[in-house]
Amino acid sequence: MISETILVTGACGQLGTEIVTELRKRYGSSSVIATDVVRPTHQGLLDGPFELLDITNQAQLVALLSKYRVTQLYHLAAILSAKGEQDPKLAWHVNFTGYIAVLDAAVAYGKIAKLYFPSSIAVFGNDTPKQNTPQQTVTDANTVYGISKFAGERFSAYYYKHHGLDIRSLRYPGIISHSTMPGGGTTDYAVHIYHEAVLKGRYTSFLSADTYLPMMYMPDALKATFALMDAEAIQITERGSYNLGAMSFCPEDVAKAIRVHIPEFEIDYAPDSRQQIADTWPQSIDDSVARADWGWKPDYDLSAMTADMLHHVRERYLVTV
Ligand SMILES: NC(=O)c1ccc[n+]([C@@H]2O[C@H](COP(=O)([O-])OP(=O)(O)OC[C@H]3O[C@@H](n4cnc5c(N)ncnc54)[C@H](O)[C@@H]3O)[C@@H](O)[C@H]2O)c1
Repeated sequence: MISETILVTGACGQLGTEIVTELRKRYGSSSVIATDVVRPTHQGLLDGPFELLDITNQAQLVALLSKYRVTQLYHLAAILSAKGEQDPKLAWHVNFTGYIAVLDAAVAYGKIAKLYFPSSIAVFGNDTPKQNTPQQTVTDANTVYGISKFAGERFSAYYYKHHGLDIRSLRYPGIISHSTMPGGGTTDYAVHIYHEAVLKGRYTSFLSADTYLPMMYMPDALKATFALMDAEAIQITERGSYNLGAMSFCPEDVAKAIRVHIPEFEIDYAPDSRQQIADTWPQSIDDSVARADWGWKPDYDLSAMTADMLHHVRERYLVTV
């Protein structure tokens, strides 16, 4: 086993729970320090060290990095897109001011070999090409979440250049998973729909039937994250954030994929404020730079993901078929 000590911020979230579980399989439970502003409840987080940490508290983070002799940092803590619009100042404070605190803590501590910072398709906006959105293009983000992520991308490149911090980053599309529920993003419908399909046989979507967005199943998000973090530094040509794609679908497509397994499934549509956010985002992503640099290739399409999601969601609610 490779000797690394890894600290994860925002560990109790949708991605954090799965990233910590995977890191603990790879490096051993005691070598992965989970941190968050809330205490963990998920079983996967209870088998190793946990510390309460608000990422805007730079001094506390430096103290934790020294206490555990941390070598890698996964900075996942954030306020997501839809939740961020309810309190834009809090979203900026956590997502941007908090990220600067993390970067300065890493510089002050001086022994972080690699730092992971997830960005998002939310960095794109109305004037970004919607199909096959290129790596380098217009980034006219419309939400405080997207603005803070784009500022974070540029600060990642800046700290790489001026402080030599090996920061790596992916622009995740909407992430679909069954272990934990999503934390207030615009793509959350694509998780909720599977739970409601199993529990109620019907779902009311907060995005319209034909709203296409780039999406990814959690195993592919984990695969991409670890492929990027395992790559040699020389392979990384993008020090802002890599475009990352897997599939693109709309709510009606998901409904059709679910009906293959649950023929009586019904969907209706009641778009809310999240529709306006979705309308500014790309529909599909050109991730050719990630593919060329470190061999990115997704495994799941909509039908493979749907079969797996329904299997696990049924298991969770103990529904037999
Ligand atoms: N889930 C997605 O679809 C998606 C897509 C693109 C990017 N991302 C990015 O991936 C990362 C993880 O996302 P997620 O879906 O797990 O989010 P989530 O909302 O599920 O989890 C975020 C976690 O951060 C914690 N947090 C909030 N404020 C904090 C603070 N001040 N200090 C410490 N912790 C704090 C929350 O308690 C929560 O556990 C985020 O940076 C997010 O922007 C996620």
